[in-house]
Amino acid sequence: MDIVKQTDTPFYYYDMDVLRSTLEEINCQIEGHPFIVHYAVKANGNPLILKEISKYNFGADLVSGGEIEAAIQAGFDARRMTFSGVGKTDWEIRTGLSHGIGCFNVESVPELDVINEIAHEMDTIANIAIRVNPDIDAHTHKYITTGTADNKFGINIEVLDQVIDHVATLPHLHLRSLHFHIGSQITLLQPYVMLCDTINGLLDHFEKKNIHFEMINVGGGLGIDYEHPEEHPMPDFKGYFDTFKNCLRLRPGQQLHFELGRAVVGGCGSLISRVVFVKETRNKKFVILDAGMTDLIRPALYSAHHKIVNLTAGDDRQPGVETYDVVGPVCESSDVFAIDCHLPLTRRGDLIAIRSAGAYGESMSSRYNMRRLPGSVFFSSK
Ligand code: LLP
Repeated sequence: MDIVKQTDTPFYYYDMDVLRSTLEEINCQIEGHPFIVHYAVKANGNPLILKEISKYNFGADLVSGGEIEAAIQAGFDARRMTFSGVGKTDWEIRTGLSHGIGCFNVESVPELDVINEIAHEMDTIANIAIRVNPDIDAHTHKYITTGTADNKFGINIEVLDQVIDHVATLPHLHLRSLHFHIGSQITLLQPYVMLCDTINGLLDHFEKKNIHFEMINVGGGLGIDYEHPEEHPMPDFKGYFDTFKNCLRLRPGQQLHFELGRAVVGGCGSLISRVVFVKETRNKKFVILDAGMTDLIRPALYSAHHKIVNLTAGDDRQPGVETYDVVGPVCESSDVFAIDCHLPLTRRGDLIAIRSAGAYGESMSSRYNMRRLPGSVFFSSK
């Protein structure tokens, strides 16, 4: 706690014990199955977080050249890397090829042609997966739904045969896999059951055509409990992996790949901030923090809920339960962390924790208003 009191706010506080037990739980659930979990680096690319995750035999799921470089730097094995994204540029494709990454998750026909061309120039073969848009509604926020027919990701099932025939004409591509990703912060298992049904149907279809895949990649998306982070510091990994164990008919020798981001790091991080002012207007009481939407944009961008805790007030400032709007200092009306939030009586200088911010917190921070980027502090009992 001393380190928290002494560090300049705002900063991200990462509990490495929580991260390690999450990684151990995932490895325990997949043991004895041909499953490979890739960590989705976009959720948190902090070098120390990446280094820790790479020690647990995870692959890396990447969406830019910068992420490929960061993952290599952190010690991830290039053969266990997947590279997704609808707009991979030539240098990013070259970066992936020069490191020999495990799989490009290809999202369109023009991208197939360009990867083939660049692989030809580099005298190599690119391992690829076709990213299929399975048209499944994951019942999540519209900005983080990715698997419905109306969004930009993947290739529609109707044209899959045609696209795979096209791949066969491109000599510098090696088709290894079909890739799927249906969205993020998915808290029900039903969408994954539907995904398994879709994949089973596709595997039957391609088997008839004598087309086989070494691996299937079901993407990520498993959600976390933002309401009750203490009770559920990690999601129900057993239920999640059991869904695939029970519902997906993998073929002999076929591997199943996952790309989990939020579920791996979401619970281990909090954004720690100090109260600059408590301000009362005619209708409202505001707690104004030194952290803003530049440090954690999820509430402003997705109306996302994060639990807010006054660390200073602790138990000794009872009974005062007040209702505040908790806001940041940025010159935008959307710079709000919570509306009508119940907190103990809160004063200038109090330390505030915004919980469950390990995923898509630090990695989405910006320097808007020329603010400093948040720092990071790591707690470890070992
Ligand atoms: N694989 C692909 C192809 C993805 O697009 C994503 C996330 C993942 C894996 C990892 O998904 P996860 O397991 O973390 O749900 N910024 C938003 C989330 C955007 C997710 C984008 N894609 C948020 O803060 O909620």
